[in-house]
Amino acid sequence: MSDVTDAPAPAWTPSAAQSVETVLWVKHWTDRLFSFAISRPGAFRFRSGEFVMIGLPPRVEAGESKAILRAYSIASPSFAEELEFLSIKVQDGPLTSRLQHIQPGDPVLLGKKPTGTLVLDALKPGKRLFLFGTGTGLAPFLSVARDPDAYAKFEQVIVGHGVREVAELAYRELFTAEIFDDPLVGDEAKAQLVYYPTVTREPFERQGRFTDLIQSGKLFEDLGLPGGRFNPDEDRIMLCGSMEFIKDMAALIESQGLVEGSNADPGDFVLERAFVG
Ligand code: A2P
Repeated sequence: MSDVTDAPAPAWTPSAAQSVETVLWVKHWTDRLFSFAISRPGAFRFRSGEFVMIGLPPRVEAGESKAILRAYSIASPSFAEELEFLSIKVQDGPLTSRLQHIQPGDPVLLGKKPTGTLVLDALKPGKRLFLFGTGTGLAPFLSVARDPDAYAKFEQVIVGHGVREVAELAYRELFTAEIFDDPLVGDEAKAQLVYYPTVTREPFERQGRFTDLIQSGKLFEDLGLPGGRFNPDEDRIMLCGSMEFIKDMAALIESQGLVEGSNADPGDFVLERAFVG
């Protein structure tokens, strides 16, 4: 008998909706936050700002039979060679308890159908693009803010990152230095990008929640914008963070006259919940 007929049937194979990719690098920011990149299949297309299912194969030797998958925003821009992600680490999280230990060369499952509303297509034309993310809610904006389309469509791109502690300001180096040397968006970023970090539970150069910074008018003052509030004719906004954050921000933004949009019906602002566990 040949080896082929003797070989045991594989215990698990990825579904047709997923491909098996390879971890390229991992960067740990804090004990709660890390980034990683995986290989990008040639046929994988997405728009900057979209999310996709990411997961790990089951450990068949431990009796597992099903892969665990969760929705993750893609942090790299649409034309990048690798797919980058920003993740929290939850010690008892079904996926992140394992995902936080991945190493270069390990397999990661990638869904084949990226989707989402945090895309430039879902916004009407405007002057300023505000990208407000809290915690890992920064991820889709790492994609949008590294895409030349954002700078072609808007005069100014403001990346707001709100976190509890200074150490959680992942990608601070990117937005304060590295992006200006980017061959594709460096020059645009120098002229049009504003990085606006804020920290709520530690001293920092700027403190307070985005909701408070908007309500008090400080955000507009800091950016040199007159009027002390959003202008529905000029300002477009994307939101990503916890359920509470997007709910409170959406209510505040709507109270200033902006209308929520979608892929089918572009508007003044769009929102999505950040992956949480
Ligand atoms: P705070 O420290 O005052 O709760 P989290 O890690 O809980 O998602 O929070 C990330 C950041 O978002 C923190 O700075 C937090 O501020 C802020 N935040 C949490 N909930 C809201 C909300 N409902 N509105 C505005 N900011 C919020």
